[in-house]
Amino acid sequence: MKHGEKMSNKPSLVFTIFGSTGDLTYRKLLPALYHLKHRSHLADDFEIRCIGRRNYTQAEYLEIIEPWIRKQTRFKFDEATYHAFTKHIRYVQMEFTNMKAYGLLEDYPCGEDNLYYFAVSPEFFTVISEGLYKSGYLKNGTHRVILEKPFGDSLAHAKQVNRSLNQWFNDKHIYHIDHYLGKEMIQNILAIRFSNRLFESVWNSENIEQIQITAAETVGVETRGSYYEQAGAIKDMLQNHLLQIMSYVVMERPSSLNSLDMVDKQISVLANVSLDKLVIGQYGAKDEHRAYRDELNVDPDSKIDTYAAVRLHLVEGPLKDVPIYLRTGKRLSQRATYIKVIFKANGNDLYQCQRHEVLTIKVQPDEGISLSFNAKKPGTINTITEVKMDFCQSCILENRINTPEAYERLLDDAFNHDDGLFTPWPIVELSWHFGEAVTQKIEKENIELSIYPSYTQGPVEADQMLKEDGYYWLEEDELSY
Ligand code: BG6
Repeated sequence: MKHGEKMSNKPSLVFTIFGSTGDLTYRKLLPALYHLKHRSHLADDFEIRCIGRRNYTQAEYLEIIEPWIRKQTRFKFDEATYHAFTKHIRYVQMEFTNMKAYGLLEDYPCGEDNLYYFAVSPEFFTVISEGLYKSGYLKNGTHRVILEKPFGDSLAHAKQVNRSLNQWFNDKHIYHIDHYLGKEMIQNILAIRFSNRLFESVWNSENIEQIQITAAETVGVETRGSYYEQAGAIKDMLQNHLLQIMSYVVMERPSSLNSLDMVDKQISVLANVSLDKLVIGQYGAKDEHRAYRDELNVDPDSKIDTYAAVRLHLVEGPLKDVPIYLRTGKRLSQRATYIKVIFKANGNDLYQCQRHEVLTIKVQPDEGISLSFNAKKPGTINTITEVKMDFCQSCILENRINTPEAYERLLDDAFNHDDGLFTPWPIVELSWHFGEAVTQKIEKENIELSIYPSYTQGPVEADQMLKEDGYYWLEEDELSY
């Protein structure tokens, strides 16, 4: 559709993406919307307005997005569905930092229900909201907004952004997205913990020795150098994705799965976290793979962390003082996100060679749960061998096809006004407090950035950190301890 051409009927839901020519829109948002179309979750009059600065025509935009959708779809690509999907999309070329440009939106009436996705840097959140407001756009209907992390570049900035958005959007209409919460196995953590007496009854410091959470990536920063230079692993992964996972692993049982009850318990966790030790690193070169400092749009002397590992503990509650280790990094040897809950040694001498029982929750790329424990070695009287019970959820084709990708699940929830998997402001604020505590510790203790070769396990200092406590990092498939 061309500018100046008025749209006729008022759609029931208009989903507007600011930043529609960015990586996130191509890789995640549009494929997720295509999946929802495939599953018949988009009403016929559902409209997707893609706002971008680039001067594309509608046809050019559709040409650009098609290969992305073909590549990312978890279903077999279906021409007819794709064709029907493109009917929902309108590309709108607009310089969203220019207040006058918002006049353009007159040609695109809002719907009864309007959801905006700010897939742009937080510095633009305020200007876009103000533009929408000043153009009179926010007057009729419901208007909600989804914000991508980081929600600011510091705690002070995040507070300021939040205050300014509150001028235009009701607090309950501001959805902070952390896509890890949409992942199937992250959702499963609470189910595993609270639907099994076996686990619920032992989830305390009397029985759990330590907890390790790893989110390792093999990718580097690719084309996102300028963003990453502001974020680093601490703001990009640690203070949000890893902290969220950790809060699910350690929170006390909520009185219901209702979002208010859940948030309450998550807040208790985040308000009670104490940071003990940390290690930061940055990937160096390996063979033909360049170092972080040689990446596009990265300062050749950059001190940004592409790896972070921390030890923390809770100062209160059933898991008080249990060491919790979190680590994340780019350009590591393997892509794997998993949780290890390591139980204390049994402490009796009836049997020889007893090992620690370990519960592993695999988040990605494999999804599953395994438990390693002790059993008698055949042919012996009192010698123990480790055995493993293993459930691989993603090995079942049907499960793979039926598991919605994180963004798909979260967008679907947002379209249905279900904010349960979005992060409310108090949690965002506490996460920023944690992030700042990490940064302050680095400064105060002069913690040096360790350069690790790409495609390795990360800095040796991170191994040393656990060694000092008498532990070591368990790899994903490592059986016992
Ligand atoms: C994003 C980070 O939030 O999560 C990226 O900005 C990171 O740097 C990505 O690569 C990892 O997400 P996933 O779903 O691939 O684990």
